[in-house]
Amino acid sequence: MVSSEATPFAKTGGLADVVGALPAALQKLGDEVAVVMPRYQQIHWDSTESAYDNMVVFAGATPYRVDIRTRVHNGVRFYFVEAPYMFDRPGLYNTAAGDYWDNHRRFAVLSLASLGVAQMLFPCDILHCHDWQAALAPVYRADQQHANPHFFDVKTLMTIHNLGYQGRYGKSSFWELGLNGGWFSPDKMEYHGDVNLLKGGITTADWVSTVSPTYAKEIQTAEEGFGLDGVLRNRAGQLSGILNGVDYSEWSPDVDPYIAAPYTAADLSGKRACKKALLEEFGLPAGNLERPLFGIVSRFADQKGFDLIAGMASLFAEQDVQLVVLGSGDWRYEKIFQDWHRWLPHKVGVHIGYNNGLAHRIEAGADMFLMPSQYEPCGLNQIYSLRYGTVPVVRATGGLDDTIQEDTGFKFNSYSVGAFYDVLRTALGAFQNRESWTERMRRGMAKDFSWDASAREYSALYDRLRRG
Ligand code: ADP
Ligand code: GLC
Repeated sequence: MVSSEATPFAKTGGLADVVGALPAALQKLGDEVAVVMPRYQQIHWDSTESAYDNMVVFAGATPYRVDIRTRVHNGVRFYFVEAPYMFDRPGLYNTAAGDYWDNHRRFAVLSLASLGVAQMLFPCDILHCHDWQAALAPVYRADQQHANPHFFDVKTLMTIHNLGYQGRYGKSSFWELGLNGGWFSPDKMEYHGDVNLLKGGITTADWVSTVSPTYAKEIQTAEEGFGLDGVLRNRAGQLSGILNGVDYSEWSPDVDPYIAAPYTAADLSGKRACKKALLEEFGLPAGNLERPLFGIVSRFADQKGFDLIAGMASLFAEQDVQLVVLGSGDWRYEKIFQDWHRWLPHKVGVHIGYNNGLAHRIEAGADMFLMPSQYEPCGLNQIYSLRYGTVPVVRATGGLDDTIQEDTGFKFNSYSVGAFYDVLRTALGAFQNRESWTERMRRGMAKDFSWDASAREYSALYDRLRRG
């Protein structure tokens, strides 16, 4: 697998959770898996060991020298691409000032190095590439200039975790990738005069997958296709959706080391303790534990439906409810929540930043979890919420629609403040009936989205690709 993120090494979102867990689940089924990712600054060099020094990879005529470091985690071998001039930086993709100017080159080097690893260290028959950052691997594998008998039987799978991020750069960047000019065409990587890395992966890989069955259909429509719907429709015969699993050894209230008290569906008393502790952590009054508490843990991006949440100001002001928010990203949304906190300090608690332990404590302590996403390829937080007995309120899109049912959560369809308001009112009404609410929590907690089933689907897809 080739990825720019994997827990516990580097994470900005759900991609890391997936690549951190899927390989181990595949290995349980008998597949042998290794992951290639960058050795970012935050991954301590001395926590890894040397696997290959002085590997030189070529983007066309331009040589890049990398070392390959390695480490086994959870039984899975990780290969880290050591290229300080590219990856020894404070952020994965950006700083507060914006994206790194050379991301196309940084992730070209990742893709080239993944082929180097496949040739020198870990011969493979499937190259499974995640998102735009790894989308050049199928391209380089297919490019004549890189033609190498070693890869003749290697099949490529391109998994799209989020079509909203494509790796699009000006035409001059194309020439830095060292690819033959034929790749800069509308049926390959050219996109409205620019180069589009994800498009290269989609048009070139032997198979394309995404992270839920509903999203696999949605991305073939003009509304959800981010300009690539036509390209994806062309690949409809080799496009499927495999729902993400979740890692219950990380995300389950009976074993979670981050939360105030463990609990199970049979004994929910610990959840009350978690709610109390969470309110205290956010400095909110913890006197009335019957008052409904909403939770949000998210990247602050338009995708996640924050304009709908912003439209709920009057609801939060009028109703006897509380809200805790953890996230960072778009400053407009950071500001809205900070304003709300100043306006309703006894009702709204906000933590701007990234904090894994707090994410767990919100899952455990909240009564309801809000995810009114504009689009959602899969979404993991709503699945974690189910396991923590925290009822998800979601928009029926992508993986949210596939994982939340009327008996475990609340869903609405139309992307509008009115529809979201209505569903919140319904949920708040339902919350008053403690007995049926607890039944709803228990039904959610009993759902099983462990990796086993999804890993079987990937494994079957690999078999199919191997057979050609
Ligand atoms: P996406 O990948 O689109 O951000 P997902 O729901 O698939 O959405 O996954 C998000 C993951 O990132 C979850 O594991 C969630 O707990 C985590 N996460 C998001 N924001 C934060 C944050 N501010 N602090 C800690 N964890 C976060
Ligand atoms: C993306 C999507 C999210 C998905 C995650 C892991 O970041 O936005 O919906 O769960 O990838 O596949």
